[in-house]
Amino acid sequence: MKLVFLGPPGAGKGTQAAVVSQALGIPHISTGDMFRKAMREGTPTGLKAKAYIDQGKLVPDSVTIEMVKERLSEEDCKNGYLLDGFPRSLYQAEALAGFSQPDAVVNIAVADEKLIARLSGRRFCPKCNGTFHVSRLADEKICPDCGAELVQRADDNPATIANRLSVYHEQTSPLTAYYAQKGLLKEVDGDRPMGQVSADILKALAVEV
Ligand code: AP5
Ligand code: MG
Repeated sequence: MKLVFLGPPGAGKGTQAAVVSQALGIPHISTGDMFRKAMREGTPTGLKAKAYIDQGKLVPDSVTIEMVKERLSEEDCKNGYLLDGFPRSLYQAEALAGFSQPDAVVNIAVADEKLIARLSGRRFCPKCNGTFHVSRLADEKICPDCGAELVQRADDNPATIANRLSVYHEQTSPLTAYYAQKGLLKEVDGDRPMGQVSADILKALAVEV
């Protein structure tokens, strides 16, 4: 199954993609995670992306679209994929349609006021890519899954969060109508306990677990 997850920053795209990609046996492809890895490694893509990510702006399409196109051409995407964070604009959606057609698009909806609390308490594991919230961690410095030291994302500060939300509303939210019109959109309420959201997504995709 070829899937796209839409939703504002902090909606739970990454959290749910980890569960759903495992349930379906397809790779979880997060453009944000790819850029953060490139920044840690200091690659040319990482160096280009950093200035945009730090400000909460979209990384230029010339960098992003080619990166996704290459990733989807890899062997592990033959039987499907779960795209998290791409497409993020109508231009990117049209570009994707030129090299791969999604079977379904899940929109995880959460109101802005809830997102700010989620993002400011988020912790990230650079080793296993796990995502957590301080309210649910026994020790907010240690990854409960692999024991590595947790970090806070540089773009999870109040000014950048505000920019990311406005970029989302201006450029990404029109994609829900775009995919609804194609008959691909599945709407899910993301303001529920995580396990419930996972169950709702799998139900919307008609997947038995
Ligand atoms: P990206 O990494 O994609 O960030 P984002 O879209 O802002 O989304 P987040 O990763 O912040 O949130 P999420 O929805 O994954 O939520 P999570 O599961 O972590 O992109 C970062 C940057 O990269 C962009 O700003 C841009 O610069 C660049 N970029 C990426 N893709 C691009 C593209 N296509 N084009 C151009 N530029 C691009 O959950 C958040 C928190 O909430 C966690 O603490 C979690 O534990 C908690 N939580 C999750 N679910 C629940 C729940 N049900 N109840 C309570 N808490 C929950
Ligand atoms: Mg994410």
